[in-house]
Amino acid sequence: MSLHRITLKNGADLDGFRRAVRWLMAEELAPQHVVWSLDEAPSLFGDDEFHDAPPVSLPRSVARLIELGVCHSDSERYALLYQLIWRVLNGERDLLEIASDPLVHRIDMMARAVRRDLHKMYAFVRFRRMQGELERFAAWFEPDHFILEAAAPFFIDRFRSLDWTILTPIGSMRWDRRDLTFGPPAQREDAPDEDSFEEGWRGYYESVFNPARVNPNAMRAEMPKKYWRNLPETASIPGLIQTASQRVDAMIEQEATMPSKRTPERALEAMWDQEPKTLDELNAIIAKAGPLVPGATQAVFGEGPKHADIVFVGEQPGDQEDLQGKPFVGPAGKLLAKAMQEVGIDRSKAYLTNAVKHFKFEQRGHRRIHAKPTNGEVKHYRPWLMKELELVRPKLVVALGATALLALTGKSTPISRSRGHAQFGPYRGYITVHPSYLLRLPDEATKREAYEAFLADLRRIHDLAEADPDTGELPLAAE
Ligand code: URA
Repeated sequence: MSLHRITLKNGADLDGFRRAVRWLMAEELAPQHVVWSLDEAPSLFGDDEFHDAPPVSLPRSVARLIELGVCHSDSERYALLYQLIWRVLNGERDLLEIASDPLVHRIDMMARAVRRDLHKMYAFVRFRRMQGELERFAAWFEPDHFILEAAAPFFIDRFRSLDWTILTPIGSMRWDRRDLTFGPPAQREDAPDEDSFEEGWRGYYESVFNPARVNPNAMRAEMPKKYWRNLPETASIPGLIQTASQRVDAMIEQEATMPSKRTPERALEAMWDQEPKTLDELNAIIAKAGPLVPGATQAVFGEGPKHADIVFVGEQPGDQEDLQGKPFVGPAGKLLAKAMQEVGIDRSKAYLTNAVKHFKFEQRGHRRIHAKPTNGEVKHYRPWLMKELELVRPKLVVALGATALLALTGKSTPISRSRGHAQFGPYRGYITVHPSYLLRLPDEATKREAYEAFLADLRRIHDLAEADPDTGELPLAAE
């Protein structure tokens, strides 16, 4: 029997492969009679005529392996995958269960390598603002395999409201907030090198870095050096490693006063293992983790539409919130609701949440008096807050007070110095006072003045959230 040549597109040509497999199966052509080759723009089936053939039904586990396998850079991938399909459809339906089979083993290793590459891409892509383009972002990444198409849904899901491009040596893809398009390969120089987000990323990384766990070899294995240039936070690594032992000593001293050993890393790890995809899944993780400081009745989660335009971040639930299990229902929440109403922000359309999800208090007689969370406690909850923002994907994030600001930036900054427009990582932001600050002011005149200033902030917040990003009206231009 003569050999049949099938030519597929360079890269991960899943569609071409599927059509080829249907045709080959309909023709009953065994793998030893097929030669696979790759081309930039192949005529669909190379030297062979083809006809429309019926679909081929495969066990789900085989289909998944094929989706990953076509992304591998091995030039023999299609031949190997076709051998697998042929055998599964010709009496070896449970072939994947035989892990010792050389073909199964090889394809399994390929799938693992692709999965690893995808995880690296999810973790190490950093968008930077494109020069001269206030609303466009680009990132450079060097994958080992043809994973662009496979990775696209993750980035669309996480950064749906950004106009982003990912440039790689094997191709590029752009999401313009509506459509995804694929383009030609790029070079590192095509991607922006540095932008104003760098500081924020570095601050975030420094705040979640645990000196007691520093292990440079493991870090290198997890974050291979070729990605370092793309990551703003890597600039901090040498310094963090150098000062790690001093910081561990300081931590050990502090630890004696810390009621719990939970760390931001644990919060991150818990999420990483469970990959919450919805707010409900995230909230289940927070509820399961329990309060960092004993006493709270329950975790108080964020509340509001799941893709609200504005997220307001407060400090922590108070006494009423703790009892009712809802944020901003006590005196400060009522004041916030009144102010929102005065400026025309519909509270039911906003998403209200807190940096810390459990009430911390001191018992004085029958009263539970609010106790401010420590920086460590705020940092413990921080990865959850970041995940919450990722899931809500708001147009604007409002920090109410210094604790919220610490949670959003990783830095302690007085509100008086930072009040106004801000950028929190990829989110347009605004910083203002916490409504409980207004309640604590000593006299009516000061209260009135501070309340007016708070209303003025809320009006700007309202305008910012209303501004259409496509018209070019930008956070810093809106002032
Ligand atoms: N203060 C906050 O920061 N959050 C609440 O939910 C209530 C009061």
